[in-house]
Amino acid sequence: MLPKHVAFIMDGNGRWAKARLLPRSAGHRAGYKRMTALARHVFACGIPYCTFFALSAENLKRPKEELEALFSLFSEFFGKEMGTLREEGVRLVAIGDLTLLPEKLASSIRSGVEYTKGGTRATLVLALGYGGRQDIVAACNRAVALGKNVDEEGFSRLLSTDGLPLPDLIIRTGREVRLSNFLLFEAAYAELLFSEKYFPDFTDEDFDRALKEYALRDRKYGTVRPQG
Ligand code: IPE
Ligand code: IPE
Ligand code: MG
Repeated sequence: MLPKHVAFIMDGNGRWAKARLLPRSAGHRAGYKRMTALARHVFACGIPYCTFFALSAENLKRPKEELEALFSLFSEFFGKEMGTLREEGVRLVAIGDLTLLPEKLASSIRSGVEYTKGGTRATLVLALGYGGRQDIVAACNRAVALGKNVDEEGFSRLLSTDGLPLPDLIIRTGREVRLSNFLLFEAAYAELLFSEKYFPDFTDEDFDRALKEYALRDRKYGTVRPQG
């Protein structure tokens, strides 16, 4: 079975650059190039939802110089890619706290989301300024403000991932074996796959191999298979 929603924790850009004696910003640029190509490949495989964890809420504590390089890459992405996304029928969704980002960038993200909202072929989700715990706490506060008890379904509608299917497969590149505050509520039954490769080196063929591995996983959701 193909996953319906694949999410990437795109880690290892800095180490990719370091290994080449390049500044970290060069690693982020290479990561962005890979992200746009990989998203296209994921959609071409027939997977309609693809998420990239591109900037965590915690990443905002990084040095100003690195953040400026990241913000300018995102601005470039939102400035350049929206026309192509719209032409290709790809809707862009942003999850995370945009108030953590510079206002100019946040407003170009909002415009990109608005401009592509009619896309029906695929959904590209960018997690920017995103933190799973923060998203859960924000959802709790929304429930309190609404003054009502919520069940799992109702709670998930208060998260920033409202309207998106749960991730079936989460791929983290860059050798670390952790979630780093990504989709904590939504990942409850996601299949996890960790790649040794730094994100800029993670190829379309690596993704095809990941899909093969996913197809072999037995997703039991706590149940037992009927004996047969
Ligand atoms: C991932 O690469 C991109 C972001 C977190 C913004 P890193 O920048 O974390 O790269 P490493 O982990 O230092 O190699
Ligand atoms: C996770 O990578 C966040 C993103 C890829 C955006 P980090 O590099 O921030 O994670 P840690 O610090 O290794 O846990
Ligand atoms: Mg990292």
